[in-house]
Amino acid sequence: MASRIAVLVSGSGSNMEALADACAANEVPGEIVMVASDRPCRALEIAGDRGIPTQLVEFSAFGSRDEWSHALRDAVVACEPDLVVSAGFMRILSPAFVDTFEGRLINLHPSLLPSFAGAHGVRDALEFGVKVTGTTVHLVEHQVDHGPILLQEAVAVLPDDTEEKLHERIKDVEHRLLPEACRIMLQGRT
Ligand code: GAR
Repeated sequence: MASRIAVLVSGSGSNMEALADACAANEVPGEIVMVASDRPCRALEIAGDRGIPTQLVEFSAFGSRDEWSHALRDAVVACEPDLVVSAGFMRILSPAFVDTFEGRLINLHPSLLPSFAGAHGVRDALEFGVKVTGTTVHLVEHQVDHGPILLQEAVAVLPDDTEEKLHERIKDVEHRLLPEACRIMLQGRT
C-alpha cells in the first residue's frame, strides 16, 4: 500500500505539484492524501484541481498562535500521514507540532543550510554576494531551518541574477530533489 503524505504549503505550490507528479509516476512510493495551508493560495487550488483533499487552517482565523498550531496539528493527525512535507510553508511550526511528527517531518529550504536560514533564503544569499547557493531538504527539529540534512544541491549565482531568476533555477532543482528526499524517507515503509 502506498504511504500517506501530507504536504504543508503557503504559496504557488510548484513543489507540491512536482511531488504529486512523482507519486503518480511511481517514482515515490506514496500518495499525497492532504494538502494544508495557513492561507488561501495557488497551491490549494492546484491540489483541489488534482482531486487532492485540502485543508485551509487560516492563521488569521485563530485568536492565538497556539490555537492555530493545535488546529493545524489536529488536521494533519487526522489524515494519518507516514510523512509530512513542508514545501513552501511560510510559518514556524510549533514545538508540539514538531514533536507529534518527529522523524517523519521534512522541510524544503531554498539555500545551502546552515547558511541563509529564515524567510528570505534566496534574497539573503543574493544580497550577501555568494557565488553559489542552492537548496536543502532536512528533517525538522525545534530550531527553525535546522535538523539532519537529507539532500542538498548547489546552484550557481549568475552575474545578472535577480531574486526571482535565481529562485526559479533553485526551484528547478527542488522539483527533482524533494521527490527524491521523500522516496528516501518512505523506502522500506511500503
Ligand atoms: C520553495 O523554493 C521553498 O524552498 C521555499 O518556498 C518555495 C516554495 O515554492 N521555502 C521557504 O522559503 C521556506 N522558508 P512553491 O510554492 O512553488 O513550491
